[in-house]
Amino acid sequence: MTRDEREVLDEMKKAGVPRREFMKMMGGAGAGLVAAQTLMEEQTYAQAASLTGGATAAPAVGVPAVSVKFMVNGAEKTLTLDARVTLLDAMRRHLGLTGSKKGCDHGQCGACTMIVDGRRVLSCLTLAGQADGKKVTTIEGIATGEELHPMQAAFIECDGFQCGYCTPGQICSAVALLDEAQRGEASYVTEDLQNPPKQLSDDEVRERMSGNICRCAAYPQILKAIQKVHQGRPVAQDWGFAGPKHLAAMKEEARHAGV
Ligand code: FES
Ligand code: FES
Repeated sequence: MTRDEREVLDEMKKAGVPRREFMKMMGGAGAGLVAAQTLMEEQTYAQAASLTGGATAAPAVGVPAVSVKFMVNGAEKTLTLDARVTLLDAMRRHLGLTGSKKGCDHGQCGACTMIVDGRRVLSCLTLAGQADGKKVTTIEGIATGEELHPMQAAFIECDGFQCGYCTPGQICSAVALLDEAQRGEASYVTEDLQNPPKQLSDDEVRERMSGNICRCAAYPQILKAIQKVHQGRPVAQDWGFAGPKHLAAMKEEARHAGV
């Protein structure tokens, strides 16, 4: 318990508030504070970057610095950064591009996915210095002016999201995925490694998107959106878990469990 909390507790004891009520109040206040802090952080990063036009404060004395010059969403940017700054933090904190999300910060969720020189990268595991001289595309640079990228439009049309937290990463990943297919790159589920398919099956798309986690589980709609763009035509909705095969498997499981 912090000193402030102890002081409040002492005050409340004097006023006769039961400890249980106090703990409830502190829990509620804590959750509210976290949400408010997150929102303030997002606004502060965006404001700071817009005020400085993307220029950033030099790293502290004694900290190894690196100068990074790259094309970000079609515009040339130069930053002087602490050499340990990730590409994700460079975009969010130094350029105010907060569309890419920090989910796990450990390379496990895909929320931070960006496209660097045509390939998707996990920007939380990429140092900004590694992007020197390269072309970086974030979700803010996917559209052409006011016109949405077909993948963005398909995500909206197919309800490919719920809370939207993973969506910037999903869309960047999906856009780069289709280019990978065109380049003839194989995946873990590709059967003929000599001739990887250019037309991706649902399983190919699922496997290639498996690094992008969606906690709202909008996977069937995400798959539909990607296939819509990939195949260039509307595709039938496959709810997967609700198909006859899955229902039969669920019934079998229930039978074994004696339900
Ligand atoms: Fe980068 Fe989760 S934030 S993979
Ligand atoms: Fe909520 Fe994917 S839409 S995490």
